[in-house]
Amino acid sequence: MAIAMTTGYSAQTEGALLCIEAASDWALTCVDQLAVSDSHVLIDYGAADGGTAVGLWNQVLDHLHGNQPEAHLTLIGNDLPSNDNVALAENLALQLPRPPKPTVLVSARSFYEPSVGPNTVSFGFSATAMHWLSASPGQLETHTHVLASGDAEALERFTTQAMKDWTFILELRSRELKVGGRLLTVNLSRDEEGRYLGHNGGETRNVHDQLHQIWRGLADAGVISEEQYRSGTVLNFYKSPEEFMAPLKDTTSAPYRNGLRLVNERTVYVKCPYRRRWNENGDTAAFAAGLMATIRSWSRHSFASVAGDSIADQVYKQLEQRIAEAPSEWSLDYVEHHQIMEKVA
Ligand SMILES: C[S@@+](CC[C@H](N)C(=O)[O-])C[C@H]1O[C@@H](n2cnc3c(N)ncnc32)[C@H](O)[C@@H]1O
Repeated sequence: MAIAMTTGYSAQTEGALLCIEAASDWALTCVDQLAVSDSHVLIDYGAADGGTAVGLWNQVLDHLHGNQPEAHLTLIGNDLPSNDNVALAENLALQLPRPPKPTVLVSARSFYEPSVGPNTVSFGFSATAMHWLSASPGQLETHTHVLASGDAEALERFTTQAMKDWTFILELRSRELKVGGRLLTVNLSRDEEGRYLGHNGGETRNVHDQLHQIWRGLADAGVISEEQYRSGTVLNFYKSPEEFMAPLKDTTSAPYRNGLRLVNERTVYVKCPYRRRWNENGDTAAFAAGLMATIRSWSRHSFASVAGDSIADQVYKQLEQRIAEAPSEWSLDYVEHHQIMEKVA
């Protein structure tokens, strides 16, 4: 499947920027551990327009150049062909003037495909992107997101697809990494208490339940058909730490057999920046517009692709109204799993 983010991605996703910043310590650790070489290839999988990671790549390139001043550095930004890859190229090009004048490239293809040749990458990075599934595990009968659905049978189907996808992503990356290369994944996840993006354990409303209520309301009003209602599914999955680590603990998995090993992992929480600002300034209209836009940036495609743009617009108009009516009951808090891996052979 292909997903598409709405345009102006970086401007609408302050939370994603904070999630990248929260991983920068481990990104620097990864490049500190690279053996000296004439050249290093660095790649950002699922980079969107690249704007949220400009600061991270500044730091990583400076750090690696400081450690290895003779090495040529190449930075590749990866995302789907449907992404705004011109904006990605422009954001990557911001790195060109800094020593050692790196090469920058765009790889416009899915991370479910190989992106470079075997034994090429020194440092692979991906933030808030690898939760999108490669194929639909089937419809949901009663919700728009599997984790909020309470549907045990659907949860099993989605978990199976998510684990197949994750193992395949790691298999591809394990081929692309050089021996001694590092991979740092920063992924939306589900913690031990079942919290995930949009569900903070009841502190505020479950965002996925709210989207579903709006979508169900459109079906009840006859604006969308029952078939469209069932097809409006957000095709992503927030894995648990154990699920992220599973292919690296299974000595028979393809990534393990290719030499990929778990080095470290942690769960990191990032509070909603839009809500924090509302706490400070009480500007409800700005909060409702900003929070709605960030939710729309990742969920719109799921509704627009089955019911068209104008019905998707109705979803987000209603969402903004709901936020404006009860701002204290809204927050989009992130739960992210960080995992460092190394190719050892
Ligand atoms: C929420 S954005 C994250 C962007 C950036 N990494 C960040 O953290 O701000 C998710 C990105 O993943 C991309 N994406 C989703 N599936 C993909 C795939 N199969 N291959 C490459 N990119 C993908 C989307 O196009 C989108 O740009």
